[in-house]
Amino acid sequence: MSAENTHPVPPGAESPPPDASLEADDGVEADHGVEVDREVEVDRGVEERAGATKTEGRSAGAERAAAALAGVAAEPGVAKPDAILVADDVAKAFGGVRAVRVEHLEVQRGTITALIGPNGAGKSTFFNLVSGFDHADSGRWSFDGKDISKAPAYRIARLGMIRTFQLTKALMRLTTLENVMLGGIDQRGERLLASPWRWIWRSQEREVEARADALLERFQLAHMRDEFAGIMSGGQRKLLEMARAMMVNPAMIMLDEPMAGVNPALTQSLLGHIEQLRDEGTTIILVEHDMDVIMSISDWIVVFAQGAVIAEGRPNDIRSNAKVIEAYLGKSRGLPDTSPPIDLGAAATASQEEGA
Ligand SMILES: Nc1ncnc2c1ncn2[C@@H]1O[C@H](COP(=O)(O)OP(=O)(O)OP(=O)(O)O)[C@@H](O)[C@H]1O
Ligand SMILES: [Mg+2]
Repeated sequence: MSAENTHPVPPGAESPPPDASLEADDGVEADHGVEVDREVEVDRGVEERAGATKTEGRSAGAERAAAALAGVAAEPGVAKPDAILVADDVAKAFGGVRAVRVEHLEVQRGTITALIGPNGAGKSTFFNLVSGFDHADSGRWSFDGKDISKAPAYRIARLGMIRTFQLTKALMRLTTLENVMLGGIDQRGERLLASPWRWIWRSQEREVEARADALLERFQLAHMRDEFAGIMSGGQRKLLEMARAMMVNPAMIMLDEPMAGVNPALTQSLLGHIEQLRDEGTTIILVEHDMDVIMSISDWIVVFAQGAVIAEGRPNDIRSNAKVIEAYLGKSRGLPDTSPPIDLGAAATASQEEGA
């Protein structure tokens, strides 16, 4: 169980530990085998979650996404009319474990595309590979038409493809504001030649600060502005990560379990933010285990199992897909033919409990 994601630093721990500042976005996400707190979502009432995420009618962004995907067949590896991310033959093994083996995957621009699958299916590893945070054994992938298979993470970020981590990464000894401001990459003041000209970076810094403040408002963190990130709850750090990712107006944002550890009141606003980003034209790839959330928010769903894409489609295609249900429950359960239809939400919960 990861304390990082769910529990605030105990009271009285205002001064973070000396090495806490090293907990930064500086490497490969080492989240395998670490249990992220999923009880929060498992315990939460289904009605509460569904109620929190359903909106009356569809937004213009959802309508656009549905129209764009209307003619697309619900088949693994299917081509999309306007793919922003295209991956081919991406493979990664850890020892004997084939963590990722994606033959072909396209993500349609301007959609909320969910990546789902049981624990250990390879979702986070796929994120790490395509965002440049880990090296693939083989494969090619492109973002917005540019081959980024060999590009380092910072260059990929500069191209407008930003990701967040399953386990949050915040600089504990910086304030919330400073953490968000760090997302403002490509600041003029960082450039060698411009740096002596204080007025250039001063005005730049003011712009960055104003944008960070606006994002803190948007993600309901304004009251934490000058607090050390070290005292934030896991949920607040999730929001901080998202705010930081938004500093660069990314064309695509990849969110790895953004809701894990976030309290139900904030979950609703987080989902609202995600939908709003899509409505503004941002492409979202979302890894999430909560099936009510997935079914209500996604324009398209990609299902991973044992590293491979085993199904794709609209929520309705996936809900009743036998391969998906089997991936979640496992063949060994030997479901009798006479079984009543399976609720994928319950199946996912069972899978998580198994993995817990
Ligand atoms: N750095 C690593 N070293 C060794 N094995 C790893 C590493 N990262 C991932 N794995 C293994 O690769 C497989 C895929 O893991 P990954 O974390 O990508 O799954 P996931 O779909 O994100 O799962 P979850 O839903 O639990 O987050 C698992 O078997 C995992 O144990
Ligand atoms: Mg993961």
